Amino acid sequence: MSKPIYVLSGPNLNLLGEREPAIYGTATLADVKRLCEARAAAKGRQVVFRQSNHEGELIEWVQEARTEACALVINAAGYGHTSVALHDALKMLAIPVVDCHLSNPAARESFRHGSYVSPVARGVVSGFGPASYELAVEAACGLAGD
Ligand code: DQA
Repeated sequence: MSKPIYVLSGPNLNLLGEREPAIYGTATLADVKRLCEARAAAKGRQVVFRQSNHEGELIEWVQEARTEACALVINAAGYGHTSVALHDALKMLAIPVVDCHLSNPAARESFRHGSYVSPVARGVVSGFGPASYELAVEAACGLAGD
């Protein structure tokens, strides 16, 4: 069995659909999950799709991905701008990492311009709403050799 792509989402993304819809849209995280599953399935891959509001839990899942995943897509949300610990965990991965955002943080407040994730990612997909996740999964499949 080929390994799945891990798709991890950070804090407040459980409220997608209700949270600042003018910025993040009206699709829910369950909708995003379905899009990711369909995009991966087209390449014969599965996704492990998880969300947490807790930094430590995200780090545990990143560590798990070291052995269990073929690639990792991560929208670290607010932690992407703050978490050295998440950066350190991602740095230990030998598998490709894709940094993913619904909005385009570079076009928003200056405190969103820095990222602890993008320096340890193979690439960044941002600004396309739920399609950012689809494109990131597509890229991850390619990086995993599909
Ligand atoms: C986000 C952008 C971050 O700046 C923000 O903190 C989020 C979501 C995005 O998907 O656009 O929570 O990662």
